[in-house]
Amino acid sequence: MKLSWTTANIPSQVGRRAVITGSNSGIGFETALALARKGAELILPARTRAKADDAAARILAQVPNAQLHPEILDLAAQASVHAFANRVIERFPGQSLDLLINNAGVTSLPTREVTGDGFERQFVTNYLGPFALTGLLLPSIKQVAGSRVVTVSSSASKLGKIEFDNLQGERVYKPMIQAYAQSKLADLIFSQELQRRLKAVGSPILSTAAHPGYAVTNLQADHMGRCLKILMATMKPFLSQDATQGALPTLYAAVAENAVAGGYYGPDGISELKGYPTAVPVPKRALDGSVAKRLWVESERLTRVKFGALSDVA
Ligand SMILES: NC(=O)c1ccc[n+]([C@@H]2O[C@H](COP(=O)([O-])OP(=O)(O)OC[C@H]3O[C@@H](n4cnc5c(N)ncnc54)[C@H](OP(=O)(O)O)[C@@H]3O)[C@@H](O)[C@H]2O)c1
Repeated sequence: MKLSWTTANIPSQVGRRAVITGSNSGIGFETALALARKGAELILPARTRAKADDAAARILAQVPNAQLHPEILDLAAQASVHAFANRVIERFPGQSLDLLINNAGVTSLPTREVTGDGFERQFVTNYLGPFALTGLLLPSIKQVAGSRVVTVSSSASKLGKIEFDNLQGERVYKPMIQAYAQSKLADLIFSQELQRRLKAVGSPILSTAAHPGYAVTNLQADHMGRCLKILMATMKPFLSQDATQGALPTLYAAVAENAVAGGYYGPDGISELKGYPTAVPVPKRALDGSVAKRLWVESERLTRVKFGALSDVA
């Protein structure tokens, strides 16, 4: 009989410190809550101090002895990413982090929005911001087995295509099929390429990825176009799961003993929409090494964030 992996399988996280982006809502919040229950110390960034404090209060209501550090981070603003990373490094000097979970994201913004830094909002929130954050925090991650960088992608990555002449929807902008799908494919490519580079420099840190299937969170409610909203509302009762279940693949990628370098985890049900965590295939488009290298170089150029020795890996 197959045994399903649940939060009961999470090993003790006592003495471990994690950063979880987007931890005030949906999958990020449930991931944080589950890790807090197992004793992890958590850095909980949200877009505003009020949201971060509220998330911490909701966790403390269920885990009164949780060690929490509410923080502010806007992944769509480079200055905010640098300021957050600097505060983390200052407060927890040296190699002091066990986990970085790049979870935060937005979807299907109906019109192309450009941030103050000149980046398309979905691309920077879902991909460039997490890329920069990872580069800035990587030196703070302990060089030991058990350390991981988890990147949350989406089944939508299967629809994505990296278009170097349209990375930010500057030529054609389609909210879901192009912009969101491309950003989530970029996440998956990044996760794979990060693992390749970590291995090349002999680092024990693992890069893994996950997707939650279709989980009911604030993601759908906020930004979807009318047609997509109707489609999702119709599918919801049959094909969706709650955010607690949706967080399991992320938790598996972060702490399961059986998760492997470059592993990608999602729900085990039909079309990976719901269920318990299992290894899922990495879409073919995420396995093209030349695209991965080019995307990495372009991302370093756009963010001006370098990854130390990893940047020099051929
Ligand atoms: N739910 C699903 O079915 C599904 C499916 C596939 C993939 N995913 C992925 O799962 C991840 C979590 O999404 P979710 O479903 O839990 O959605 P959610 O409830 O909307 O949570 C998204 C989180 O990201 C944060 N965020 C958005 N923009 C940000 C920014 N500029 N800087 C920092 N944080 C920002 C949000 O903060 P605010 O509260 O301030 O908006 C929120 O905390 C995302 O990467 C999403 O693409 C979800």
